[in-house]
Amino acid sequence: MSTTGTSSFVVVANRLPVDRVTAADGTTTWRRSPGGLVTAMAPVMRAYDGAWVGWTGSPDDAPEPFSTDDMDLVAVPLSAEEIALYYEGFSNATLWPLYHDVIVQPEYHREWWDAYRAVNQRFARAAAEVAAENAVVFIQDYQLQLVPQLLRELRPDLKIGFFLHIPFPPTELFAQLPWRRQILEGLLGADLVGFQRAGAASNFEALAETFTTASLQGEALVLEDGHEVLARAFPISIQVEEVAKLAEDPEVQQRAATIREEVGAPVHILLGVDRLDYTKGIGHRLKAFGELLAEGAITPEEAVLVQVATPSRERVEAYQTLRDEVELQVGRINGDYGRIGHPAVHYLHSSYDRSELVALLLAADVMVVTPLRDGMNLVAKEYVSARADLRGALILSEFAGAADELGDGAFLVNPHDIDGLKRTMLAAMRIHPDESEQRMKLLRDHVTSHDISRWATEILTALRAT
Ligand code: ADP
Ligand code: F6P
Repeated sequence: MSTTGTSSFVVVANRLPVDRVTAADGTTTWRRSPGGLVTAMAPVMRAYDGAWVGWTGSPDDAPEPFSTDDMDLVAVPLSAEEIALYYEGFSNATLWPLYHDVIVQPEYHREWWDAYRAVNQRFARAAAEVAAENAVVFIQDYQLQLVPQLLRELRPDLKIGFFLHIPFPPTELFAQLPWRRQILEGLLGADLVGFQRAGAASNFEALAETFTTASLQGEALVLEDGHEVLARAFPISIQVEEVAKLAEDPEVQQRAATIREEVGAPVHILLGVDRLDYTKGIGHRLKAFGELLAEGAITPEEAVLVQVATPSRERVEAYQTLRDEVELQVGRINGDYGRIGHPAVHYLHSSYDRSELVALLLAADVMVVTPLRDGMNLVAKEYVSARADLRGALILSEFAGAADELGDGAFLVNPHDIDGLKRTMLAAMRIHPDESEQRMKLLRDHVTSHDISRWATEILTALRAT
């Protein structure tokens, strides 16, 4: 057993909840890291008072452990080469597309895999050094799937949980992976492996039985050495209160009103908020909106689309291609239907603070969430949390994990079906206020009673009980 640390609760994630940002003059500041993992896990971290082990987002960056925003952070350094091979390569050009239905073809490179193993080893050692004896260590997401096994070897005293924030692929797709056995064995080092959807947990169980020596006995997968692993779905959520409070703030409400004016006070504001990622179906959304304008079903005076696209993984080729495609589409639509000072699509390639984001949610009549595949999609839950006024409509892809929970109140769509998406956009824009109120009530009943604190209690109780 390696030396022990002092934290009785440790979160291990590829990124710290804050990213180091270096200005032109060399000064650095910390900014909230992108993505749903941080939205979900930061409040858990604050509530359980532990340490968060992760990367700062910059190469060769290894500050001493520090605290920010009520969280104790421990940095794991990555070299520029490791960022290219482990993060941009194996994590985001092999695993990400493979786990998201091969929307983009995954690439399999042995040197990427070698870097993935080496970096996972480093994260496991860092977690082992921070964790107190018998601590709970909660490992996050696809970048760190080998850490459970590596950590268990170093520290058999620990309770090890793992949560996958993204989908887990069907068996035929996962079977493509040249290192499928190693990944499965990595995950099987945990006591509990959590997924967003029940189907993902079943996929994992079937794959573990096919490609490893584990066998399903009752509820648990049992390894040859007797170690038992529970695989179950725990649909993740958000801190509803945080969004609700911002939505109640008169300044945020005023900002929402100003946004409406700024986009030309149309009858309908449609809104998309996504990392600029090919899984999010931004192109499908733009195509449907553009066709509605082309056919005259809506006019640019009547309806505008605000698309916030957070810069993401900008050095990965597929993301560069996507950006070009999206910006071409936006340019075409605005060229054809916009007027001076009145574009039909307001495209914002930028990150925003939480109050601006909530102001956008409040300004939107129709929230358009159309991923081709998404583990959960927390933006959908944020929209619902902001709408205490019971107004607005949520269009939600069947292929987002959130559709399992929000299917009753949302307008569910298959984003591949452009005609269906167009019909749904029109229906959501023309919804009667009574129906929209009924739907929003259903959505809010679910989201407010299933927030992140309930998720954390459920998954951590299940982990402790293993
Ligand atoms: P993913 O984890 O794939 O990025 P989610 O929808 O689950 O997708 O989570 C995205 C999170 O990032 C949400 O909390 C959302 O509010 C936040 N977010 C998305 N775009 C922006 C942006 N431009 N500025 C600030 N936060 C953003
Ligand atoms: O699960 C969503 C997720 O991939 C997280 O793991 C990740 O932190 C976030 O989105 C943002 O992606 P990245 O860290 O690659 O910028």
